[in-house]
Amino acid sequence: MAKEVVLSGIRPTGFLHLGNYFGAMRNYVRMQDEYNCYFFVANWHSLTTHPDTSELRNSVNRVVAENIACGLDPEKVALYIQSDLPEIAELYLYLNTMAYKGELEKTTTFKEKVRLSPDNVNAGLLTYPVLMAADILIHRAVKVPVGKDQEQHLEMARNFAERFNHRYGDVFPSPQAFNYGTELVKILSLDGNGKMSKSENQMNTIFLADEDEQIRKKIMKAKTDGGPLTPNAVKPDYIENLFTLMRQVSTPDTVQKFEDDFNNSSEGNCIIRYGDLKKQLAADMVEFVAPIRAKAADLQANQELLKKITRQGAEKARASGAETLRLVREAIGMN
Ligand code: TRP
Repeated sequence: MAKEVVLSGIRPTGFLHLGNYFGAMRNYVRMQDEYNCYFFVANWHSLTTHPDTSELRNSVNRVVAENIACGLDPEKVALYIQSDLPEIAELYLYLNTMAYKGELEKTTTFKEKVRLSPDNVNAGLLTYPVLMAADILIHRAVKVPVGKDQEQHLEMARNFAERFNHRYGDVFPSPQAFNYGTELVKILSLDGNGKMSKSENQMNTIFLADEDEQIRKKIMKAKTDGGPLTPNAVKPDYIENLFTLMRQVSTPDTVQKFEDDFNNSSEGNCIIRYGDLKKQLAADMVEFVAPIRAKAADLQANQELLKKITRQGAEKARASGAETLRLVREAIGMN
């Protein structure tokens, strides 16, 4: 049986951080053996919000390098750059006729972007979900690993696909959100305020490109408190977050030791030492991130190799995209 098609896109804005890694990329890496995977860097999408392209090529290369450093194998998956697939642009054009102005205007991300940048409400921003639908449908993907914030876009992609099928005949399967196995690990900002993100205060986000010393400094500054007041207390978010991080990078024994210390602590008898916990976490995190950072840096220094990898990814993706487009043109009657 043919492997199911998995697809996801990564925006080339900002540096990848631990939230991206544990919440998404590690998940992609697990999928690459079992599914027919397409992962791409969404550089067209970035034009809708970042018209200044002076840094774009650099960011795209960094994202590709970081993804490979995190374990994506370009021999197993198609890893490509969106703008290398003109097929997406043509499909975007057809899908634009399936999307209604009213529903586009009601999209949460659109309204948010209008609020943040009222001077740049361009049509590309409005049709962002259509381009995203084209990204997905061009490979007739059925499984789309995305976070909660993208589920509305995915639902719109399903609607556009359904309308297309209804009008011109069945071409597209219905793409669904997909996470490997159980719940995704959610990493909070180190001050405990919301998700770890690229736009928040940089001190509260650990990037895969951070140097050892920065990683240590950020973890040592992470929010803690005076310790639990009762044995077996419920951990506040920011403490749970440190344990979550520790579960990703430290040995089970280490995690258990601090769990026990926490559970045995109470007011006036604080056994857990958050300073020690953070020191241990920092040491283990440094060890975890260092090889990823080094591999990403090596790749970024080798532009020739990066070019070769993305060219190879684009070839794979174009073969699949061209076939979909053939079916689309045939269905519409434009062949
Ligand atoms: N919109 C996604 C984000 O902001 C990125 C993206 C673009 C994407 N095209 C996609 C994700 C297709 C999944 C599938 O993160």
